[in-house]
Amino acid sequence: MTTKDRLLSHLKREKGNWVSGEYLSGKMGISRSAVWKQVSRLREAGYGIQSSPKKGYLLAELPEVLLPAEIDETLGTRVFGRKEIIYSSEIDSTNMRARSLALQGAPEGTLVVAEKQTMGRGRLGRSWFSPFQTGIYASLILRPRLVPNEAPKITLLAGVSAAETLLAVASLDAGIKWPNDILVHGKKIAGILTETSMEMDAIQHVVVGLGLNVNQRSFPGHLKGSATSLFMETGRPFERVVLLREFLRQFERCYDTFSRVGFEPIRKRWRELAVLLGKEVTVRMMDRTFEGRAMELDRDGALIVKDRDGQSQRIYSGDIRIH
Ligand code: BTN
Repeated sequence: MTTKDRLLSHLKREKGNWVSGEYLSGKMGISRSAVWKQVSRLREAGYGIQSSPKKGYLLAELPEVLLPAEIDETLGTRVFGRKEIIYSSEIDSTNMRARSLALQGAPEGTLVVAEKQTMGRGRLGRSWFSPFQTGIYASLILRPRLVPNEAPKITLLAGVSAAETLLAVASLDAGIKWPNDILVHGKKIAGILTETSMEMDAIQHVVVGLGLNVNQRSFPGHLKGSATSLFMETGRPFERVVLLREFLRQFERCYDTFSRVGFEPIRKRWRELAVLLGKEVTVRMMDRTFEGRAMELDRDGALIVKDRDGQSQRIYSGDIRIH
C-alpha cells in the first residue's frame, strides 16, 4: 500500500469526523508536512478533504472515480483485479490497452479501467458509447487453460456475471440476449467484448471487456429507444465502483466454477437468464442471414437455431434480432 492509500484508509475509517495531523503522522510514522503533501495529492484525485489548523483533516466526500484504491477496497476476489489495476481518466479503448499489456506478458487478473473511452469498441465493428464518468468501461486479462474452440464460453460466463451483478446491486431483472447483450425491459444496458489471442492449439490470453451503462440520463439519437442505464431504469444514481467490484466477484466465482466442474452449471444459469430461447429470430452471420426459432444453448456454448426448413443450425458468432 502506498503512503497515499494508507492515509486514505485512516481518513475513511473516520469519514465525516476530524482527525488531527499529529495523530495521522504518529500512526503512519511520517512528518506532519508529509501528511499534508499526501492530503494535497488526494485532493487532486478528487477526494473532498477539509482542513483546519486546530482540528486537522476531515474526509467529507468520496470522488466518483474508479481509482484503483477505491476498487481494491473490500474487493473480495483472489485474482480478478488483484494483480495490477491500470487506471486512465481517458483512453482510446480499455480492450486495446489490455491486449497490448497481455502481449507484453501481463498476468491473469490484470484490470484496465477508464473514466472515458474515445474509441470504445463493440462487437461486429460497432462503437461503444463511453462518456466521462457515467458508465463502467473495464477490461480484464485472463489466461485460461482452454483449447481455442472453448473461448466463446468465456463470453457466456461474463454475460451471466453481468446479469447477476445487476440483480444483486440494483434488483434489476436483467436478461441475456445471445451471446453477450444484457437487456433490461428489452433495452441494452451492458455488453461484453471478448477478444482472444491464440497460438497453435492453445489460448494465449483472453481480454474480456465490459461496458455497463450506469448513470446516463439519456442517449444520443442512434441509441435512443435501444439503450438504457441503471439510472434510467431505477431513477437513482449508482456508485460505479460498487458495481465493478460486484462484477469482478461474480465473474471470478463463475470462472472458478467453470475451471473446477466445467461449463454445465453456467449453462444452466445462462438458460434461466436467456431472453431468446423459444423465440422467432433473424440470425445475421458473416456469410448469410436466415430466420428461425432459437432453441437451445448447447454444451459447447453454441446457440441452436431451427431454420425454416427444420434444420438445426449451430451458431458460434453472429448477430441475433428477436422478432
Ligand atoms: C457489445 O455489446 O457490442 C460489446 C461492448 C463492449 C464495450 C466494452 S467497454 C470496455 C471495453 N473496451 C472496449 O473498447 N469495449 C469494451
